[in-house]
Amino acid sequence: MTDVLLIGCGRMGGALLKGWRESGAVGRAIVVDPALPILNGAQVVASLSDVAAPLPTTILLAVKPQMLDQVMPGLAERLRDGALVISIAAGKPIAYFASRLGKPAAIIRTMPNTPAAIGRGITVCCAGPSVTAAERDVADRLMKAVGEVAWVEDEALMHAVTAVSGSGPAYVFHLIEALRDAALAAGLPPDLAAKLARATVTGAGELARQSPDAPDKLRIDVTSPGGTTAAALAVLMGEKGLTDLMTRAVAAATARSEELAKG
Ligand SMILES: NC(=O)c1ccc[n+]([C@@H]2O[C@H](COP(=O)([O-])OP(=O)(O)OC[C@H]3O[C@@H](n4cnc5c(N)ncnc54)[C@H](OP(=O)(O)O)[C@@H]3O)[C@@H](O)[C@H]2O)c1
Repeated sequence: MTDVLLIGCGRMGGALLKGWRESGAVGRAIVVDPALPILNGAQVVASLSDVAAPLPTTILLAVKPQMLDQVMPGLAERLRDGALVISIAAGKPIAYFASRLGKPAAIIRTMPNTPAAIGRGITVCCAGPSVTAAERDVADRLMKAVGEVAWVEDEALMHAVTAVSGSGPAYVFHLIEALRDAALAAGLPPDLAAKLARATVTGAGELARQSPDAPDKLRIDVTSPGGTTAAALAVLMGEKGLTDLMTRAVAAATARSEELAKG
């Protein structure tokens, strides 16, 4: 079983650690995080220099991107031959880690999303040039502990991935807000408007997840010709409707991710 050094154990690192414990995906986990003095079931230290040599060969970086410059020199110094470095830091390219480590290492860049906190995330992984099939399997197993996993071969696609699944949970939260506001405008009392919006979006999402049918089939199945749903969908699916709006939103997030990568 893989031993892991987890550097950074905030929201996302904490979700991973919880997932590893529950799934048994990891042998021993050593956690480096100055904000976390005690943690059941894992050895916790405040800094990398407090970890007894040798470091585990699998390292998962879960600090904020802006903290990486501080973390990488210590890691480069202690990194063992044959190490696998997995990063969840948004926007940090594989080349960044390769240059900071200064020695050959297998690097896998990933983009998880916040539903990982309840084991329902989706993580997209992208492997650096020297990553073996066995190392991909390790990353796959570690990230599957908090949800689904997909892989891309072309790192440039990570911008679009960030715009779709990384930022996507916020779009769904906003959909709940929009449906709530529309319910208020239709005359429903605030408590009922909020309750209906939340239950409808999460319930329909769960139905879409569990059903073998594609979303368009599910939609058509609940839309009687000339009925109420059809009247609403004529607006949502009309010119400049939801698909157009979502396409523009994802394009804006993709462009912003590309811009941030240029520095
Ligand atoms: N949250 C998301 O939606 C999401 C999605 C995809 C990817 N990510 C990526 O996940 C990473 C973590 O995000 P998060 O939301 O989990 O952030 P977070 O809650 O702030 O967690 C980061 C943790 O790292 C600790 N830390 C700071 N400096 C450290 C150091 N030198 N060594 C070890 N630990 C250190 C922080 O402690 P302090 O609080 O004391 O600074 C904190 O506990 C980021 O790189 C982010 O881009 C996040």
